[in-house]
Amino acid sequence: MSNLADSGQSDRATGVSAQSVESPKPVDSPPADRTPSDPGDTSSDEKSLTARHPRWHIRVRGLTKSFGQNRVLTGIDLDIERSKVNVVIGASGVGKSVLVKHFISLLRPDTGEVWVDGTNVFDLDTKELSAFRRKFGMVFQFAALFDSLTVEDNCAFPLREHTKKNKAEIKEIVRDRLSALGLDGTQDKYPGELSGGMRKRVGLARALVLEPEILIYDEPTTGLDPLATKNVDDMILSTSERFHVTSVVISHDMASVFRIADRISMLHDTRLLISGTVDMVRESGIDYVHRFITTSGVTGAFSQRKQT
Ligand SMILES: Nc1ncnc2c1ncn2[C@@H]1O[C@H](COP(=O)(O)OP(=O)(O)OP(=O)(O)O)[C@@H](O)[C@H]1O
Ligand SMILES: [Mg+2]
Repeated sequence: MSNLADSGQSDRATGVSAQSVESPKPVDSPPADRTPSDPGDTSSDEKSLTARHPRWHIRVRGLTKSFGQNRVLTGIDLDIERSKVNVVIGASGVGKSVLVKHFISLLRPDTGEVWVDGTNVFDLDTKELSAFRRKFGMVFQFAALFDSLTVEDNCAFPLREHTKKNKAEIKEIVRDRLSALGLDGTQDKYPGELSGGMRKRVGLARALVLEPEILIYDEPTTGLDPLATKNVDDMILSTSERFHVTSVVISHDMASVFRIADRISMLHDTRLLISGTVDMVRESGIDYVHRFITTSGVTGAFSQRKQT
């Protein structure tokens, strides 16, 4: 069966095997290296990996990872689009967090490559890696704030660690990020005094102080009520627009996914089952994808368009 990733990958790219999909239906997928909505993009050759690509920010090729006997990822070929919201979905334990940890070389693969603007991250030495990681901001499932530090000190922490900015400059940057996320007046509070949604926003403010090019959110809405979830979704969208960052969002929440995603990539059975625009995923005709989404209760996903 043909490749369902529309991201300009070569023939060894993502396949949808009969073994990995239950009752796959025929799919009228676009050619492997272009989507109907992106007729200009053709750079699928391996040479393009070693240079900054205008469209694809992170390029994963042939990524395979096991922990002992436990194979988690097999031959993942995935492209993350610059300045867009790229969502990764899939069942619990399928390997979503493991995949994104490779993006910043928190994990090393058994085989495969991750290219970011022409650099293979696994070629970097310790010093280079430390500089490279400043391109990224991470927002974790539980905001992972320091409980004993105030909101201001939590947000100032990366600036004190990684820059030579003076106190006044740091205060200004922190104030700006907190304000942008609707957190005015929380500077002197401790994380324990905030709601879960506010803590997540503080986590995002902290991730933003170093002006990352890429923001990775690992399940940012887990444990939030529907309104708080909507707030975090709005925050992801407005952050994407205001700071022009490339967003990678791992999410279980299908309502959220269809609110925020420009692209959706789905892991299943150690492989990348599909990666493409929201419409492409919606129209894939793959039974597992359809069931995964509709079982979550988001029945409108197949008839609604993303609301912005
Ligand atoms: N450091 C590690 N050592 C050993 N096994 C690991 C490690 N990290 C992850 N795993 C295993 O890899 C698999 C995928 O884990 P991962 O955390 O990526 O899942 P996930 O898709 O993010 O799940 P969830 O939606 O529940 O967060 C699991 O079987 C997990 O036990
Ligand atoms: Mg996870």
